[in-house]
Amino acid sequence: MQKSKKAAESLTVMTNIVLPNETNSLRNLFGGELLSKMDRCASISAARHCERRVVTASVNHVSFNHPIPEAGIVVLESKVTRAFSTSMEIYVDVWLDDPINQRKIHTNEGIYTFVAVDEFNKPVPIPALEPETEEEKKRFDAALRRKELSLILSGRMKATDSVELKKLFAGEI
Ligand SMILES: CC(C)(COP(=O)(O)OP(=O)(O)OC[C@H]1O[C@@H](n2cnc3c(N)ncnc32)[C@H](O)[C@@H]1OP(=O)(O)O)[C@@H](O)C(=O)NCCC(=O)NCCS
Repeated sequence: MQKSKKAAESLTVMTNIVLPNETNSLRNLFGGELLSKMDRCASISAARHCERRVVTASVNHVSFNHPIPEAGIVVLESKVTRAFSTSMEIYVDVWLDDPINQRKIHTNEGIYTFVAVDEFNKPVPIPALEPETEEEKKRFDAALRRKELSLILSGRMKATDSVELKKLFAGEI
């Protein structure tokens, strides 16, 4: 196993066109369809980073900021933002690509946690992540507090045991 890998090595881009059977009653892309695509994209990034089988441990955050209409071209871009011991955080950015008007609108983002597992579904160690760009560094730096929050919300950590979140609420970061 490599000791560390660059964020760019996990970059995954998926481009789709919205079909009628994927829309809601407003003829926009149905949220559940988008979540499924985001999960797939994130899982590919996770597997590219750790070169292992991966499972979704948590969907930490998803925002739906802009509707994506029927026949819209949807571009999903995902990358690992930080690797911990066996788990990793993946950011998925979603864009509506409008080649006719030469516009690209950022419609959504999602933050996922995946865990690398062996053939018995047991978590296994993964390479560290080296952020390079300013955005990668920003997301890397904030990932630990998002992990702590996710663990607290899922009942896996006591709020009093958090380190980064305490600093955040104390105004230290
Ligand atoms: C995810 C899973 C492998 C974790 O197994 P586990 O025995 O609980 O393992 P651990 O407690 O050691 O957790 C493994 C890692 O996941 C992290 N993790 C687990 N749940 C988490 C959550 N809700 N949020 C953030 N991280 C989480 C842990 O912090 C740990 O990270 P680290 O090793 O990098 O520090 C196990 O719960 C599982 O198989 N879940 C089902 C996954 C699945 O089927 N997904 C598809 C759903 S359709």
